[in-house]
Formats: sequence, C-alpha cells, structure tokens
Amino acid sequence: MTLVARSRAELDDALRPHRARGGTVGLVPTMGALHGGHAALVREAAERAGTVVVSLFVNPLQFGAGEDLDRYPRTFDADLEVCRANGAAVVFAPSVDEVYPGGDPQVTVEPGPLGGVLEGATRPGHYRGVLTVVAKLFGLVRPDAAVFGQKDYQQLVLVRRMVDDLCMGVDVVGAATVREDGGLALSSRNAYLDPGQRRSALALSRALRAGADAGPAGAARVLADAGAVLAAADGVDLDYLALTSPGLGDPPEAGEARLLVAARVGSTRLIDNLAVHLGTQEGHH
Ligand code: PAF
Repeated sequence: MTLVARSRAELDDALRPHRARGGTVGLVPTMGALHGGHAALVREAAERAGTVVVSLFVNPLQFGAGEDLDRYPRTFDADLEVCRANGAAVVFAPSVDEVYPGGDPQVTVEPGPLGGVLEGATRPGHYRGVLTVVAKLFGLVRPDAAVFGQKDYQQLVLVRRMVDDLCMGVDVVGAATVREDGGLALSSRNAYLDPGQRRSALALSRALRAGADAGPAGAARVLADAGAVLAAADGVDLDYLALTSPGLGDPPEAGEARLLVAARVGSTRLIDNLAVHLGTQEGHH
C-alpha cells in the first residue's frame, strides 16, 4: 500500500513505523508527471532502501519568469499508480504553502559557480531553487539515499556537491537516463511536443551518440560530429553543446568526459547528455 502525505505531520506519521523498525529510507524527489524514467528511479531506490518515499512537488522556486510553471503537467492519480506499482511506501505531495509557509524562503542554498553555467546561464536562479527544495526535502524526509536521474546531469552534479560541501550525509545515486526506441530521453516536457517536434527532438540524442562515437578521435572531433547533426536538424534551435569533465569542468585530454546539449524545439526546451570516452587518435573517423 502507498500512503499519501500532504503535510509534514502526515509525512512524519507515515514514516514513524518504518523508522521505528530501524530501516533505511530512500527518497526520489520529483515534480510529478511521472514517466518510465521516474519508475526506474523508484525501483532503484527500492533496491537500496527498505522504505521509499517519492515526493511530488512542482517547485515554484526553480522556475523563472516566463517559464512553464503554470502549464507544467500535473497528473496526480497516474503518478500515484506509478509509485504504487514500483514499490513506493509513501508519496509526499505537499502544497506550496506547506513547503514555503512564509512565502519565498529567506535562506536559500547558493549553488556557486557551477550553478551559473550551462542550464544556469539560460535559467538564472534555477539551481538555487532546485538545491533549496532538495535541501528542504532532505530535512523533511531525512533519507539515507536519494535517487536522481542523469538526464539533468548538472542537477545531479550540484546535488552531490551540496551534500559534500554541507555534510548532509545522504548517499546520492545517479540513475541512467531512460530513452524511447528512437533515443529520445524520457522527460515530462515531451508531453508538450507535437508529432513533428517529437521527430525533430530526436536530433539531440542522435547528436550525442555521434559525439560519443567520435570519442576516440578526441574532443574537437566529438564537438564537430555532434554539432553537424544538430546543424542539419530541422526545427531545433540550439542553446548549447558542451563537452566537459564528469564534474562539469574543462574536458580532459583523454579519458571520461560528458557531452551535454540543450535546445528549443518549438517552445519546449529540452536537455540531454551522454558519457564520452575521449581518446587521442586524431585520425579516427
Ligand atoms: O528533477 C526534478 O524533477 C526537480 O528539479 C527536483 C529534483 C524534483 C527538485 O524540484
């Protein structure tokens, strides 16, 4: 059975018996509109912890002016079923007032320089909003582990950084991105795409794959091959294509790196990323 908690008090009541048994708690923070990628996060959490809490909360603090806060899909009944079917014991679905009782919080979590690049450059304040709500959820749920998707790779890196820098003692788990057959990364925002836009959106994962395939030939080749796919795509307005280290710094000469892309398809902003193994075979095709 999956219990629904709407308030802090209900959350404490729901978790009390689990805590009394001394079991571990796993948290999957979400904004609802759950899809197969979220289901995989819930299953991952269930493998790591005795009790899984899924939070469903569309966090106003991480949306900028003119972004999609009002039209963000809200599908509570279907979300509850996904949680139940994948082993969540508790769904925490608070109101905005419950999470931010006095309005916007006075004390927030500042993501530092990494919060201002890539997504943060286009969405100022976004990661401040994300880290602040994640810190609150950690305080409310007190999880042993928390599972995040790798699709928002920058978010995952920043949450890890917050947990390390602020000694939060939560095991942060990054789960692989789930993709449709054509490669499109599952995202709640895919619901905004019409069939033509959905076809255009496939260019993002195709570009990443082309870049990753060029990894042995080195960084310049990765960016050129991925960039060529995006340049040839119809209806894709590129925001950035970036090759970084796994921690989002400069890419290494050789070894593990990350290729990240963000683009607008129609009015929908999509992001995706892939691991790339960089080699130094300049002549590789
Ligand atoms: O990835 C998301 O859905 C959100 O950014 C999160 C982590 C639930 C915080 O609101």
